[in-house]
Amino acid sequence: MQDADFVTVISKRKSRKRQQLVDLGNISYRNFDAPVISEEVAIRRLGAAKSDIATSEFYSSLLILLRQGLSIICAPVIEEVLCYGLGRFSECMTSRYQCALLFLLKENFGAKVFIHDPIFSVTECNILRNFGCEVIIDNEEGCRKLSGKPTLVFLPHCPKQLTDNFLRTNWSPNLLSSCLLLSNSLSHLVESQSRRELSLHAPCSLALYPHSSELGLVNSFRYSDIFNDTALHVFPASKLALAAQDLWDYSPPSGYTKGDIEFISKEEKPKLPHFFE
Ligand SMILES: C[S@@+](CC[C@H](N)C(=O)[O-])C[C@H]1O[C@@H](n2cnc3c(N)ncnc32)[C@H](O)[C@@H]1O
Repeated sequence: MQDADFVTVISKRKSRKRQQLVDLGNISYRNFDAPVISEEVAIRRLGAAKSDIATSEFYSSLLILLRQGLSIICAPVIEEVLCYGLGRFSECMTSRYQCALLFLLKENFGAKVFIHDPIFSVTECNILRNFGCEVIIDNEEGCRKLSGKPTLVFLPHCPKQLTDNFLRTNWSPNLLSSCLLLSNSLSHLVESQSRRELSLHAPCSLALYPHSSELGLVNSFRYSDIFNDTALHVFPASKLALAAQDLWDYSPPSGYTKGDIEFISKEEKPKLPHFFE
């Protein structure tokens, strides 16, 4: 969903299709980093989105679900949040509401937030830093190792390759059982795609799925395309303990392929603007 001043077009940059925003008043493709919305306007819109979410039934049910998840992983509180794939939250309404949710959860749990999306603008990085988030400069392609502290991993509508890279990097019972994964529903992924497709592009999700518990989130927010297909997943130590040693010895191949529509590799976009170095 986008703001009224913008339309979505499909470009054929490097012979691949990617959604880009075009300013209606100036019909030209926009550079990833070009600031369009002022920081002040973006912050004001985020504030309104935060109030909208904070007072919603959706947010109350999500908090209940997160507490359930925490009790399953035997943790009192979320200490860290790792977020990839939020998108251009200063311009895109879907991303803005997801960002508002991230800020609310950060405040609610007093958690430290680590965040990256290769398409963040300088303005967006500034906003995130001013809200106390640590912007990850390098494109890690989802491969960040968890600290072992209770962590919420927030991957809103992310490419399956990103989720898979995250799982592969944390391929141990100790690390997986320390996180709550709020992402596209794994059960929907596994049920909707062929085994061949999953083995090629989401082998870790496929292998771990039987050892996970999915806590379904009712999509009750007033805008139905912001948190649709979203579920909370946990990898309970008790379930992982039942997995055969083969699972941990398994060395799944890297899940992403070049040319995927949504996944941005580090070759394509290695880091965020130099400003932060
Ligand atoms: C389908 S969009 C989702 C955007 C937004 N969360 C939403 O729901 O509309 C996928 C997002 O993943 C981001 N993404 C792609 N490759 C990434 C990477 N290597 N690391 C972090 N984010 C990435 C894209 O830039 C994009 O913002």
